[in-house]
Amino acid sequence: MCGIVGYIGPQSVVPVIIEGLRRLEYRGYDSAGIAVAGGPKGLELRRAPGKLRNLETVIHDSPIDGSFGIGHTRWATHGRPTEENAHPHRDGSGTLVVVHNGIVENYLSLKSALIAKGHKFVSETDTEIIAHLIEDELEMAGGHAHVVRSQSANESEAVVSDGTSPTRETREALTPVRPALPLEEAVRRAVKRITGAFAIGVLSAHEPNKLVAARMGPPAVIGIGDGEFFLASDVPGILHHTRNIHFLADGEVAILTKEGVHLTDFDSNPLPLKVQRITWDPIQAEKSGYKHFMLKEINEQPRAIRDTTLGRVSLDTGKVHLPEMQFSEADFRNASQITIAACGTSWHAGLAGKFMIERLARLPVEVDYASEYRYRDPIADPRAIGLLITQSGETADTLAAQAELAAKGSKTLAICNVVGAAITRKAQGTLTTNAGPEIGVASTKAFTAQLTALFVLALHLAQVRGTISDEESLHLVTELSKLPTKLASLLNINSPDAPGSSEGVAAPIRPSTPDRRSTTRQPLSVQCEELARLFHTADDFLFLGRGIHYPIALEGALKLKEISYIHAEGYPAGEMKHGPNALIDESLPVVCIATKDPNDPSSVLKYEKTLSNIQEVTARSGRVIAIAIEGDTEISQLVEQTIYIPQAPELLLPILEVVPLQLLAYHIAVRRGCDVDQPRNLAKSVTVE
Ligand code: F6R
Repeated sequence: MCGIVGYIGPQSVVPVIIEGLRRLEYRGYDSAGIAVAGGPKGLELRRAPGKLRNLETVIHDSPIDGSFGIGHTRWATHGRPTEENAHPHRDGSGTLVVVHNGIVENYLSLKSALIAKGHKFVSETDTEIIAHLIEDELEMAGGHAHVVRSQSANESEAVVSDGTSPTRETREALTPVRPALPLEEAVRRAVKRITGAFAIGVLSAHEPNKLVAARMGPPAVIGIGDGEFFLASDVPGILHHTRNIHFLADGEVAILTKEGVHLTDFDSNPLPLKVQRITWDPIQAEKSGYKHFMLKEINEQPRAIRDTTLGRVSLDTGKVHLPEMQFSEADFRNASQITIAACGTSWHAGLAGKFMIERLARLPVEVDYASEYRYRDPIADPRAIGLLITQSGETADTLAAQAELAAKGSKTLAICNVVGAAITRKAQGTLTTNAGPEIGVASTKAFTAQLTALFVLALHLAQVRGTISDEESLHLVTELSKLPTKLASLLNINSPDAPGSSEGVAAPIRPSTPDRRSTTRQPLSVQCEELARLFHTADDFLFLGRGIHYPIALEGALKLKEISYIHAEGYPAGEMKHGPNALIDESLPVVCIATKDPNDPSSVLKYEKTLSNIQEVTARSGRVIAIAIEGDTEISQLVEQTIYIPQAPELLLPILEVVPLQLLAYHIAVRRGCDVDQPRNLAKSVTVE
């Protein structure tokens, strides 16, 4: 979960790397660093704890320059977020640097072996071991003199700590020694000694104008520009320079020089570059004028849902077509069950997906935390289908669950937002959620896109298995197609494509006092901002829901806790009387999802039971905020606050319900002065277990 950017080309290297790191800061942001070489002062390093702006200050005070370089923004795994532990890390000679995303599992044994050979370590990280491993390979091949490494180590540390350049003597010590082994070969040999996950970028002062990248696990992409070449953890880091991207695969090594990019496997066998043209608009990866990425992404949901539906459903016949799935109809028809494994928000989508699939396709669904799946020795059934739900496609826990499912003989299917991500490459089929890049750490548009993809999949399964009539299919597909417009109206956006025209951006948000008796909607952002004013000082929140609305209660609680740091719990509404009622008093806000589809008897029954639960809360002076369907006069008489959403069929209501919960969390976090897009202790892509 770190961000890496590398550059080689005619542009000034430092701004290219810093700008790329800024666009990747969502991947980790507890320290940052940069190394450049090929300039007048040889290899230079700058690092700083904290956010990227701290590194920029260091560079401003002590400028560096070069013709190629690598940078890193870190999320700590081994070692605290200090300057010493910030990347890039150097080998003992100080002439070779490494940036790394991932984890070296066998770092203790590697470290002892290297220490026995005379290597000295200055950080607590596992990454430093990679630099020394490469150095070790060079030394074994007769390239780096051990004596050079020991002499220069202290001098080069001074470069890091005080930002000054190496002394003349040090520079002489760093004068290129013709390596007996090309850097890329030393990298190949070194990575073969590593157990764990890595995407690395390496440069050496001894090999001018060369960057080497290698991957096993965490993502890395190579950008092909016009006479310039890029390395990054993720496309947004370099998209403003090039749209021609090679997704580095596991086991690949890329050698970037001024002449081009050469690709091999870990055994030096040449591999072809598979350059894909990325069609994302760079503005998609920017804030489009919103104050935060999260707010922008909330407002992008109408488009995300439309794009996830588009081309997959026929509005004439109601039929679902998923040609990209590579699963045969027989696979789906004969499936004994679906096992969903996912983490966090994606797990909540999975819980809602269970209701969709079981209800429409009459196929049993199990939903597991991916981080738990392989620890319970799950009972395998070769006819079961493993379904991995993941925004990033790189979550280590979900990858591990996928490996367990595969080992037990299940085919796996991915619902993923990132084309070419690790999980999709290992799956037999992928249903891509077309939400576009999600930068805010708290997932919003990826979640509603996942719900949409799950609904489309459930319909497809139902059609293949013959558990749904043509008439019902057509009805549900028609309702699905109306969702983007309903969401746009809920968000006060003119059209699904116009997030920038939301009232959250175009017009200032005016505080107003909601009329609790009104059964129509105020602008949602205005209402959520007012609710934030009333409730932002609460210490705890409860979120309640029944049936398919319970996962949405869980998601509402997660959104609030992760960005506002308020403790929040999601509970099935009917479980309150079995314990949590003891928590209720006049200081406890209780957000209750009380929506109903009047055409669905089970939904109406559930709604009535939920009303009873609400009365139990209000009778104990709890302060209820209800999420209800427009026009519901009954509910607004019972509760303190009501947020109205448009009507939809029961299985599609979650996609609408979660939006006010996202906005409520957002406005509470803003009011509490929290860092909405980069909440403390979290990272966007969790690539370690
Ligand atoms: C919360 C959030 C996380 C992720 C989880 C899984 O807002 O974003 O809970 O959902 O880390 O990540 P993915 O979906 O990338 O596998």
